[in-house]
Amino acid sequence: MSVALEFTDRGRGTPLLLIHGFPLDRSIWSAQVADLAGSTRVIAPDLRGFGSSPDDPPAASLEDYAADLLALMDSLKIDRFVPAGHSMGGYILFALHRLAPQRFAGAALVATKSAPESESGRKAREETAQRVLQEGVEFLAGSMPGRMLKSVDVLPRVRKVIASSGPTGVVPALRAMAGRPDSASQLASMKFPVAVIAGSHDALIPAAEAKAMAAALPSATLRMCETSGHLPMLEEPEVVTDALQSLMGSIR
Ligand code: MLT
Repeated sequence: MSVALEFTDRGRGTPLLLIHGFPLDRSIWSAQVADLAGSTRVIAPDLRGFGSSPDDPPAASLEDYAADLLALMDSLKIDRFVPAGHSMGGYILFALHRLAPQRFAGAALVATKSAPESESGRKAREETAQRVLQEGVEFLAGSMPGRMLKSVDVLPRVRKVIASSGPTGVVPALRAMAGRPDSASQLASMKFPVAVIAGSHDALIPAAEAKAMAAALPSATLRMCETSGHLPMLEEPEVVTDALQSLMGSIR
């Protein structure tokens, strides 16, 4: 069952759907929303269990998050749109593509990968989930931002967003990511324009993953953010905005 998401909706034109990563919320896209709304329609939801969106029932898979996004687009009477997924948002984008490929007018894959979860990754996610259930999310707010970022400027901001998440959002998301299938076989069938955007210094998802996806996609543009880690939309907002603007321009 899908839940009704809280979202930001600005501008006009072909809709760009900005899907945030883990354990974040729509606020990570604020620069892109502000800068793109003059030329395109930008929709940025909080995923189930994050930001202001409801957490009940908990998502059981990436497809549940994708179903929420489809329900949101349906409620806005939007047929085709351009999803842009950051990290876990990219995993959800692949689930969205499995559910409704005909709804894609284009896509952006931001600091994400098509690879499935590894055995050791699954184990580590469950250990983290158990720790969150026992201790809450504070340890994530302490440990994650330093690994996510190349530059420390936005560290307090990222820490604050992570600290505002809660176990009811974080634990289902960890388990959904752990159950992630291999999405690489979908790339060849994504025949619309795709912007692949990545931070050259990403310590969580190596830049090589972006290069491999761009090579496997029929119509991809690769934009490397040379001074960014895992959060290029915050570390080099103007480069990410420019890449998304070019993508939307190629679709109109
Ligand atoms: C994210 O940024 O969404 C997550 O770090 C992705 C992951 O843990 O695989």
